[in-house]
Amino acid sequence: MHRTRDLGGHVFLHLRDREGIVQCSFNADWAPAEVVAAAAAVGIETVVLIDGIVTARPAEMRNPEMATGDIEVRATALRVVGPAVTPAIPVALSKEAKPPAEDLRLRHRVLDLRREELQHALVLRHRLMQVTRQVLSDDGFLELETPILTKPTPEGARDFLVPSRMHPGEFYALPQSPQIYKQLFMCSGFDRYFQIARCFRDEDLRADRQLEFTQIDIEASFISQEDVIAVGERLVRALWAEAGVTVTTPFERMTYADAMERYGCDRPDLRYGLAIEDLTPIFQSSESGIIQGALAAGGRVRGIRVPGAAGWSRKQVDELEAIAKGAGVGGLIRLKSTAGVLEGPLAKFVGPEAVAALGLADGELLLAVAAGDRVANPALDRVRQECASRLGLADPAARRFLWVVDFPMFEMDPVTGALAAVHHPFTSPNADDMRARPDAPATWRALAYDCVLNGVELGGGSIRTSDPAVQARMFELLGIGDAAEQERRFGFLLEGLRAGAPPHGGIAFGFDRIAMLLAGATSLRDVIAFPKTTAARALFEGAPSVVPSQDLDELHIRSVPSDG
Ligand code: AMO
Repeated sequence: MHRTRDLGGHVFLHLRDREGIVQCSFNADWAPAEVVAAAAAVGIETVVLIDGIVTARPAEMRNPEMATGDIEVRATALRVVGPAVTPAIPVALSKEAKPPAEDLRLRHRVLDLRREELQHALVLRHRLMQVTRQVLSDDGFLELETPILTKPTPEGARDFLVPSRMHPGEFYALPQSPQIYKQLFMCSGFDRYFQIARCFRDEDLRADRQLEFTQIDIEASFISQEDVIAVGERLVRALWAEAGVTVTTPFERMTYADAMERYGCDRPDLRYGLAIEDLTPIFQSSESGIIQGALAAGGRVRGIRVPGAAGWSRKQVDELEAIAKGAGVGGLIRLKSTAGVLEGPLAKFVGPEAVAALGLADGELLLAVAAGDRVANPALDRVRQECASRLGLADPAARRFLWVVDFPMFEMDPVTGALAAVHHPFTSPNADDMRARPDAPATWRALAYDCVLNGVELGGGSIRTSDPAVQARMFELLGIGDAAEQERRFGFLLEGLRAGAPPHGGIAFGFDRIAMLLAGATSLRDVIAFPKTTAARALFEGAPSVVPSQDLDELHIRSVPSDG
């Protein structure tokens, strides 16, 4: 029961199901008096069964705002089958009304899920799953399941561990992804696999990250990066088509190196410019101590010019600087030009030739950073995004799909020099780079690619290492040099590869992120039925929760209160 209205003897009930709302009309002209009285007493959100006759409404009673506004059900009987307590949050909201605060919505999720917006989102989610199955199945991919109680598969997050009752002191891990298992399928001859797979990662949550989420996971044998990209584009096209949007392929491409150089990040939003420029030659001879210090340490001066931002107040620019500092740089160089004269704290250090080379137009604000790329990139990325958001540069209707390719294989810890996999340890390095610079693995590119839309990473994948000797060498470079340790952690993968492995590769798309974008939502929580909050809690069911100590005893676990 969505809404009730009693006009004294004529009762109108708005009855809702997942298809929509219909008006049921109770009147002594066609219903027994006790039925009209029962209708008048029904509370909202009650579940009822109604008998009646679908009737055209009189012309003056028609409601063009309502999909079923030309008809009503003239009800003759009513039975309450699911009485409802007074709802804790409203379900029937007018278009203008703001829904209650999110914590309250999540706390009362059963009611919240009844709202039209969430009903639509979950129905869309269902349809997107069916399209995924159809497209991939038509392409010869088999939907195969992989275990949830697994051996750890590293994807860069912490594992959720599950204690074994039967084997004291031993643990299963929930999968961060089905990565190793899907590779084992390739070793087992199932040369095209997909799964709509639940993944678990114990990491800090944001609007676009959940502890458990769903991937469209894909793997195939005897394929190249181009084949995977083609499958990915076919799938994306079909998913967007299901939501009524035509997507043109092929998508743009950009190397990781270009993305970092021009946008300071590996998933640039290309709906707006504000590309980063290397201004080092212009500032090379500047006498500023800050700049000279940064250049001497191997850094550069890079920045963006922001049209129409010269008029921003000092406070507004200070806020940008705070964002840049929050990302790790010491400060933000700011310059603007009025009738060819530079203004800004560093203006006096910029000679006339440099001013000419800079060619700053009136109204433009130059925001730059003097630092090493590792520090400057995240800062410039955040400043660029903030400027675009202030100026409203990102057209919400625009869609700039992009493949970022040629990711580096490793990233090096600047202090310890230790290597970590940028994608994951099973990605194949670029063979040319390995051959050309066998002793400089930090410079190797990987056969890894990401699919990006408007600054959101939709998916990522790679061609894998199918040679067990190369895989063992990769483990070694990642600090897992000991053969026994390799066998202990990854023996099952190495065994699969040694059994005769076809060359293979794949990709995984973030299903929740795709559903979020297509539903027009801004949080994954709006396309997941029972999500976790950013504090990693399930508010409706109340998880995580304390368990009785005898349960822990059975699992051979003792819970120790943390200090402080
Ligand atoms: P990756 O770790 O890039 O790759 O994950 C693939 C995609 O999954 C989505 N995603 C998430 N969505 C919601 N919440 C999260 N916490 C979360 N983490 C990731 C993103 C991401 O692009 N095994 C590899 C794939 C492969 O190599 O084939 C993998 O998991 O959209």
